[in-house]
Amino acid sequence: MRIAVLKEREAGETRVALTPETAKKFIALGAEVAVERGAGETASIPDSEYENAGASITDAAQAVTGAGIVLGIRAPDPLALAGAKDGAMVAATFDPFQQRDRVEAYAKAGFEALSMEFMPRITRAQSMDVLSSQSNLSGYKAVMAAANQYGRAFPMMMTAAGTVQAAKVFVMGVGVAGLQAIATAKRLGAQVSATDVRSATKEQIQSLGAKPVFVEDVAGIEGEGSGGYATEMSEEYQQAQAKLVSEHIAKQDIVITTALIPGREAPRLISDEQIATMKPGSVIYDLAVAQGGNVEGSKADELVTRHGVTLMGYSNTPAYLAPDASALFARNLFNFLSAFWDKDAGTVELDEEIGDAVRLTKHGKIVHERLQS
Ligand code: NAI
Repeated sequence: MRIAVLKEREAGETRVALTPETAKKFIALGAEVAVERGAGETASIPDSEYENAGASITDAAQAVTGAGIVLGIRAPDPLALAGAKDGAMVAATFDPFQQRDRVEAYAKAGFEALSMEFMPRITRAQSMDVLSSQSNLSGYKAVMAAANQYGRAFPMMMTAAGTVQAAKVFVMGVGVAGLQAIATAKRLGAQVSATDVRSATKEQIQSLGAKPVFVEDVAGIEGEGSGGYATEMSEEYQQAQAKLVSEHIAKQDIVITTALIPGREAPRLISDEQIATMKPGSVIYDLAVAQGGNVEGSKADELVTRHGVTLMGYSNTPAYLAPDASALFARNLFNFLSAFWDKDAGTVELDEEIGDAVRLTKHGKIVHERLQS
């Protein structure tokens, strides 16, 4: 089985889907690994390290020639994979709801598109889950970027010249990214509070030493949908949440928003009116900015100032931690493929539960149930 890895083509994408460590592991399974020249450069991995691991370094066209598996952070243009085997598997993120055209192009090209963001949230797939591994790093980086932008210190400092107050950090959305944001802000010495629509997160917030800020007394709303994901909230809940947030946010220095609802625009959590109540110099980092944004007025990769408050958010936060993000992403891909690897036959046969969850196209058709329309 030949595995090909190309240099990522999307602007600002610094990660790479294979590391020398995973190249070695794939080779130990009997695979042949080909990497496009310079693919790891932006993640601080020189070609020589791939070569030392046993991979061959070549140009893009040659790398894909005869490949049965192509790995990517983002799915490459299927036209670039023309030399790959008929029906080759391509494991990458596909952003299938936003990039329907590309899914169609994959079906037309006859490849088996495996969308890593559809990995089911089941225990045995945890080590294959790129959303978790990348969100964790994003939560960390969001706090670091906001701290860097903020003109004051995070920890309380008692000095001979007087006391510097600890920063107040509020995390909205306590999934994988939010939990890491809380932990990072705590480590930096901030006073941290957090909120979510899923009541299960209350205990998690407390266990990290932060203060939970929750809507109470709105009956019958749990907010937890399938796979641990959030559901859209009722009108009544949204109003109660907006009131609570308004009161709390006015006292915060840093807000990190991470709220997402799968397959939909990110929920709006902070309005311009609410921003106006914050102190000048405060910073809001919108981790959902690329999915429509949690914050009114935030713009991807731009610093926006509203009422003296800075709104920020990178469109691709894990790309700012390319070596770590690549290492984790590459291990997710290895854990996924190796779980279904038949060493004797040199083939990969996905099982039904995981295969049906991640497979977008096969035999020239779009086969995923969430994409049937
Ligand atoms: P996500 O990225 O889909 O959303 C981020 C957070 O925003 C979630 O906690 C969500 O409840 C929250 N949110 C949504 N709408 C909101 C609103 N209006 N106001 C405030 N918060 C809002 O979530 P993520 O990080 O993917 O995690 C969701 C859950 O799945 C977590 O409990 C996590 O531990 C679990 N999980 C399980 C995995 C497994 O078993 N394999 C793998 C990864 C996560």
